[in-house]
Amino acid sequence: MRILSGIQPSGPLHIGNYLGAIQQYITLQGENDAYYFVADYHALTSVRDAATLRRYVFDVLADLLALGLDPEKSVLFVQSDVPETVELSWLLTSVTPMGWLEKCVSYKDKVQQGIPAEHGLFAYPVLQAADILLYDADLVPVGQDQKQHLEITRDVAERFNHVYGGKSEVFRLPNPYILDNVAVIPGLDGRKMSKSYSNTIEIFDEPGAIRKKVKKFVTDSTPIEAPKDPDACPLFGLFKLFAAPEDRDEVERRYREGGIGYGEVKTRLGEAIVARFAEARERRAELVAHPERVAEVRAAGAEKARATARKVLERARAACGLG
Ligand code: TRP
Repeated sequence: MRILSGIQPSGPLHIGNYLGAIQQYITLQGENDAYYFVADYHALTSVRDAATLRRYVFDVLADLLALGLDPEKSVLFVQSDVPETVELSWLLTSVTPMGWLEKCVSYKDKVQQGIPAEHGLFAYPVLQAADILLYDADLVPVGQDQKQHLEITRDVAERFNHVYGGKSEVFRLPNPYILDNVAVIPGLDGRKMSKSYSNTIEIFDEPGAIRKKVKKFVTDSTPIEAPKDPDACPLFGLFKLFAAPEDRDEVERRYREGGIGYGEVKTRLGEAIVARFAEARERRAELVAHPERVAEVRAAGAEKARATARKVLERARAACGLG
């Protein structure tokens, strides 16, 4: 199976990115033919400073490598190192009805948040379709919020196949791969952990900063002795994703019986997060000390990705009469 997914470089990765996406990437590599990339073309819709974008791209590559993405088992690359992406995006744009993009929830949300309604933002899903179709992906691991973009990708692929394919299919139709149980990771304010809510815990913050942030987790004022419903508590929701099973069961029991305070849960959660990423933190420090290693991985990934992309783009160009 060809697996493919992309991450926007929009700042340091947080534990929501890890549990919602990266952990799955790592599980899927090896047994599959996996392609993972840093979506820097997409980031142009929001990052408007060259040095910042370069730093973010490096950071995501280093984060992924430190967390266990293995360039021997998967192709790790940067989107703009494969400029074929943009050409395919134009071919797809040419058969994409405006109405499909107008109904996109993520576009409407962003504009409502006050982000300028630029054409790149509007066409974002077509560029994403190009990312996916360019590599003949079968399966695309993504968060729930990307489901609509995957639907558009399939619709655009089908439409292109219909318009230009004749008897042979130009594009393979991809399927989304969404793990529901980890799809929503609670952030510090109890809402979904997301950069746009400023409620994230960054994976590679210093341990002290992680402990401090976790202490800020918003909780209600139920007293220590009172029984509490663990299932209704976002703090417990995050705790159970990091705690060892016996700790999780113990804390859950004490929630129901009464006798556990939120302060204790926060302290234990902070320790569990720090411990979970301790080895990755060491690997990341190594990469920061040797940025040339990251550059080598990037160059090798670009070469492999481009070889695949060129073949698919050629197929698409031929189908619509270019060249
Ligand atoms: N839009 C995705 C996000 O914000 C990132 C992305 C870009 C992506 N291209 C992709 C994800 C292709 C999967 C496949 O999370």
